[in-house]
Amino acid sequence: MAQRIGALVLAAGKGTRMKSDAPKVLKTLLGKPMLWYVEQALAILCGQAVYTVVGHRAESVEAVFPELAGRFVRQTEQLGTGHALATALPVLAAAGLDHVLVVNGDAPLVTAESLQRFRDAALAAKADVAFVSIELPDPAAYGRVVRQGDAVRIVEAKDFDPALHGPATGEINAGVYLVRLAVVAPLLAELSNDNKSGEYYITDLIGLAQAAGLRVLPVNRGADEAYLGINSPRELVGAEEILRRRIVDAHIDAGVVVRAADSVRIGPEVAIAPGVELCGPLELSGETRIKAGATLASHGVLLDAEVGEDVVIHSFCHLEKARVDAGCQVGPYARLRPGAVMEERARVGNFVEMKKSVLGPGAKANHLTYLGDAVIGAGSNIGAGTITCNYDGVHKHQTVIGERAFIGSNSALVAPVTIGNDALVGAGSVITSDVADGMLALGRGRQVTKARK
Ligand code: UD1
Ligand code: CA
Repeated sequence: MAQRIGALVLAAGKGTRMKSDAPKVLKTLLGKPMLWYVEQALAILCGQAVYTVVGHRAESVEAVFPELAGRFVRQTEQLGTGHALATALPVLAAAGLDHVLVVNGDAPLVTAESLQRFRDAALAAKADVAFVSIELPDPAAYGRVVRQGDAVRIVEAKDFDPALHGPATGEINAGVYLVRLAVVAPLLAELSNDNKSGEYYITDLIGLAQAAGLRVLPVNRGADEAYLGINSPRELVGAEEILRRRIVDAHIDAGVVVRAADSVRIGPEVAIAPGVELCGPLELSGETRIKAGATLASHGVLLDAEVGEDVVIHSFCHLEKARVDAGCQVGPYARLRPGAVMEERARVGNFVEMKKSVLGPGAKANHLTYLGDAVIGAGSNIGAGTITCNYDGVHKHQTVIGERAFIGSNSALVAPVTIGNDALVGAGSVITSDVADGMLALGRGRQVTKARK
């Protein structure tokens, strides 16, 4: 009969060493919470059979992961990792699982492949309890793997005493376990909190299982950095750097040209077509999509942006929830805020801000302009210093500009207002009423020139 294998993520701890009130597992790496990476890897392996123990500020963790609703287990008092597993036991048993892969929620570098190899090794060896061990130059605060003869157990750093346990070997516990529920469940009752932390350690299960004659299997993964745990700000930024490099390298291997790669940050959900050229420093995050032939110069920040084919984004541009269609040119120094859409071959130049506005095909706003709540038709030219006055202090209003219109420099378009196709607005105008197709509108004082005294 096929074994039912599920997973349990331990994410209830406060993360005291992080020195922040926010739950540790919500701390982000490249824009995504630490816990998100662990859940991603486990979903690949176990689908929906993944349960998550939450406790410290449980509601805020649950709110960030609505897709996991119904699969959270509350550990109201965080009495230790062993207690976390014991708390989840009824839920795991009710799910009919034979084996449970238990993973610390603070290990965001884990990959599905690495977990899969561990799981397969443990199942092949018919282990009752298996765990991953790794070798670190400095075992720091990790639990130490202590082997004495055939016996193996884990001793937490605080409780480790060379006189009792022998010299430290550098082999440490990674915080990933595979347990066979039927035989391990009874051992949970035997855990004690008689240790330096006063906590019920999941790691004591190893020694208990061995004493009970169960089959215990350490799976040594050498110097694998996939299992680093994050407890402090230093470890957080260190792990983020490993992840950043991993993602950048994967894009380079897939055909993206990444110059100054050391200063390029790309989120795990960003999609970039082969052949795209990027130059750091650059930050691409959220669900940003970049299509073939696009070039992004340095100092850009893109969040949930869509960049079409052959687009050129010059230096120092900021795009958030904006769409830039094929052949557009952006910047330098442009800001595209949520709802900004540039249709094909449109151009936006320096110090131009767009928000909830559409710039039609081939339309241009090249200098010093604010376009908010505006729709601009194909081929129109928005002169330098044009401002759509979209806000009357209470409400936002729309500006509609037709095709091939020409807005002279330094014009204020007071919304709601409509400028027709082929209309011309004289430079320096304040436009407060609609301009029909093909008309010329001048809304400014007439120049007076007099002889000097
Ligand atoms: C743990 C291991 C240690 C191992 C290290 C690997 C124990 C006792 N020690 O130590 O051997 O080397 O991970 O990174 O397990 N948690 C709960 N409920 C609790 C306590 C913790 O859900 O009551 C969660 C935390 O949110 C965290 C995970 O369990 O995600 C591990 O807890 P943490 O306090 O970080 O354990 P370490 O001291 O790092
Ligand atoms: Ca930890």
